[in-house]
Amino acid sequence: MDIAQVTEKLQPQPEVAFPPTPFFQGPEAPCRFEGEVYNCIVRGTIPKEVEGTYYRCMPDALWAPQYDDDVFINGDGAIDAIRIKNGHADFKQKYVRTSKFLIERAARQAIFGKYRNRHTDDPRVKHEIHSTANTHIIYFENQLLALKEDSPPYAMDPDTLETKGPYDFHGQYKGPTFTAHPKIDPTNGEMVTMGYEAKGDNTNDVVYYLFSKEGKKLEECWFKAPYVGMMHDMAVTDKWVIFILPPLEGQSVDELKKGAKHFAWSEDRPLTFGILPRRNPKPEGMEKSVQMVLKEGTMHRWPKGIWNYIHSKEDVVKRKYVYQKAIGAMMERIQRGDEGGERGDIFSNLLHAKQPETGEPYNQRELMGEAILLLVAGSDTTSTALTVIIWHLLANPETLEKLTSEVCGTFSSVEDIKYQSIQSLPYLHAVIEEGLRICPPNPGLIPRVVVDRSPGNLVIGGHVFPSGTEIGVCNISLHLNPKYFDNPKSFQPERWLQDSPLKCNKTAFSPFSLGPRACLGRNMAYMEMSLTLALLVYQLKLSFTDPEKELQDGFDVEDAFVALKPKVRVQVAKV
Ligand code: HEM
Repeated sequence: MDIAQVTEKLQPQPEVAFPPTPFFQGPEAPCRFEGEVYNCIVRGTIPKEVEGTYYRCMPDALWAPQYDDDVFINGDGAIDAIRIKNGHADFKQKYVRTSKFLIERAARQAIFGKYRNRHTDDPRVKHEIHSTANTHIIYFENQLLALKEDSPPYAMDPDTLETKGPYDFHGQYKGPTFTAHPKIDPTNGEMVTMGYEAKGDNTNDVVYYLFSKEGKKLEECWFKAPYVGMMHDMAVTDKWVIFILPPLEGQSVDELKKGAKHFAWSEDRPLTFGILPRRNPKPEGMEKSVQMVLKEGTMHRWPKGIWNYIHSKEDVVKRKYVYQKAIGAMMERIQRGDEGGERGDIFSNLLHAKQPETGEPYNQRELMGEAILLLVAGSDTTSTALTVIIWHLLANPETLEKLTSEVCGTFSSVEDIKYQSIQSLPYLHAVIEEGLRICPPNPGLIPRVVVDRSPGNLVIGGHVFPSGTEIGVCNISLHLNPKYFDNPKSFQPERWLQDSPLKCNKTAFSPFSLGPRACLGRNMAYMEMSLTLALLVYQLKLSFTDPEKELQDGFDVEDAFVALKPKVRVQVAKV
């Protein structure tokens, strides 16, 4: 009899019957193991000079979760230590004795509910520390700290891996939560740390702490985040602490009571960075920097492919709609045999183009790609630029007045307004340049990949970028930099006029990008924008429908490679 075949069919006891999801099966199946291997088998040789211990932390559910859709990061924290000395390696693995671990071990089953949702717990444990201590392990003050960001750290003996208990820096750390990724400064041993949801579940309070190497509190600063989100990690420099607030938003208590997961993706929330001085921090400084970043449109940039998963269904539907429009228009033209008029147009050229390598025409799939590109690159960009310009003209009536006088003073009929004839209007061009500067239709970075070059790295400003790195410069950060433009946030077309005293560094202006892959439609875009604008101000009187609200809301875009713009409500009357 094949014992393996028989045991495979036996049902395990319910308390260890893990759900048949990828989080608990195959290589992810919990190992539920504590133990020691003294003198591990070593293949090869460990140099005698190598001495130290490698610690590792993992979630390893001891009991089947109460809810099948629970996530693996709710598993009990197990710590591994591999000690290396005199060419030998000894291994030890032990669970952290958290309250959860001890209670469930005594009960021989899961008692706590879903990840970070107390409303799904057995009511008797609702007020216990919920830490699973499974995310990260660090060495500080001669002990290990096993971390889970919803709870205080658990201290452990670094040699025996015995758990000492929850640790609050000798009463100095006041928050109920502690990040899983504090930073230890390698130069002076200081610990930079923080906790979010720091006044209890779903609070937007954050607390920052700085401790000396000896565990003495040096700084403490409480502040509020713009919304509750999973502030999982942070970054630290000599002078600054950078907090990261992604739109993975904490759910309301009502949702949690219904059994929701603690966090859910919130399309409308901006990815936000908050910057606080590492020393002598003040909550006011923090709030200012968070708001500043929100206002200036911190960028959403995600690796290719993730987009579909993180964007709302509504957005995917909208995107499909745009694609279908582009493809539909293309198919219709092909069926109609439309050659784009006597002179032809971009698309008729593409239809008849031949691939230089093979002499073959472009296939339908390639043409579809071009149709979508032309719709997005060719229409959305110019419409954003015109929306930006119109908003700023209406917000600055004296600028609109100047532009209108220039256009109306030059032409005596609509028929005279031709692309050739508007070339001589400096203020019109200045207005367009200023619109493209203050809010470029592609506000984020235009990515480029560092190509192979000897010795394999690119160095810019002392920073090394190895081959294959994707890098870029954010247009908006160049365009709003006071180093290059005076009063960068104010709409002042005058800066583009000859002999203007206002600083206007044209080399820092790149709405169409630079280099061989820069915008192909640049000239066409200028033609469309300048003709539309001249004809608009010549023939129509424009004003905001609700000026007070427009000025109060301001004009901000969100970066999604192209800019997602707000609706601007405008009244139009014939002159
Ligand atoms: C204000 C209007 C416009 C702005 C700000 C703009 C901006 C840009 C930018 C930043 C790029 C990326 C270049 C790079 O990767 O370095 C680009 C590419 C491109 N644009 Fe525009 N664009 C505008 C209008 C147009 C128009 C009207 C068309 C055509 C009808 C057009 C066609 C293209 C094409 C085909 C590319 C791809 C070029 C390539 O990959 O080689 N653009 N544009």
